[in-house]
Amino acid sequence: MSSKPIRKAVIPVAGLGTRFLPVTKAQPKEMLPLVDKPVIQHVVEEAIRAGIGSIILVTGRGKQAIENHFDVAYELEDMLSRRGKTEDLELVKSITHLAQFAYVRQGEPLGLGHAVLCAQHAVGDEPFALLLGDDVFDEEDPALSALVAAHEATGHSVVGVQQVPREHVSRYGIVNAPQPLGPWWNVHTIVEKPSMEIAPSDWAVVGRYILTERIFEHLQNLKPGVGNEYQLTDALAMLAMEGQLTAAPIPAKRFDTGNKLDYLKANVEFALKRKDLGNDFYEYLRDLINARG
Ligand code: UTP
Repeated sequence: MSSKPIRKAVIPVAGLGTRFLPVTKAQPKEMLPLVDKPVIQHVVEEAIRAGIGSIILVTGRGKQAIENHFDVAYELEDMLSRRGKTEDLELVKSITHLAQFAYVRQGEPLGLGHAVLCAQHAVGDEPFALLLGDDVFDEEDPALSALVAAHEATGHSVVGVQQVPREHVSRYGIVNAPQPLGPWWNVHTIVEKPSMEIAPSDWAVVGRYILTERIFEHLQNLKPGVGNEYQLTDALAMLAMEGQLTAAPIPAKRFDTGNKLDYLKANVEFALKRKDLGNDFYEYLRDLINARG
């Protein structure tokens, strides 16, 4: 199946982050660090690893720190240069050159479906990747690139899925289970935040998508859904009805960094993998656990 290449990624970061108050009162949750790199940079780097060079961030009020992070920091660069801190200077400058960045604003956080629609004019008439700005995957395994492969094979829109504990299905969009399990499968049912009793399976959509331009037609016709928000899932359900939606499992560990416990786990695991910190941190954790008996 021949399909257009995926050149652009949309990353919505306009949500209020209420699960992470009080820190999100005056700063974006997407700027919280995993060790020393903000969550949003991990997400951008995942898109780049999948071959994408153009990043469209959907921002909102109070999210300027994200734009500043990917922009030139003139005073800082000048100071580092004058002090001869070449390594730090290169690190700071490299962030600006990671990709081409564009920003669109979502005036009000009316839901993920609405946020994606805000990016329509920047995306244009081509398929694109959608990455949620607070979902992070282990960098050693393929996440978005697994979906790109499924899109290239089917030409359809693709949702990245993982199995979740049955008692957590009401936090996610849930798709029908595969029959039998393959590298990907056709979605005929997708439901936003179903109760355990009516969920079609325990396969949850987890923050990574490849969407064809057809999604915008369905987004334009959306009515408010669960939580009175414009739900991307409702537009995906229209694609599913047309036989145009594929589910692809993501073979990588995921952290929802908008959730406090998952954020702490992500920091521990990313720190343990660091060459400069991992051993010392491991010893600290081991001693701490031993001291607690
Ligand atoms: P979440 O539901 O995880 O983000 O949306 P939230 O609304 O900020 O979180 P809580 O529940 O209040 O803690 C997933 C992603 O979609 C973006 C968010 O910024 C997040 O990255 N989003 C969500 C938008 O850009 N606009 C919206 O209207 C809603």
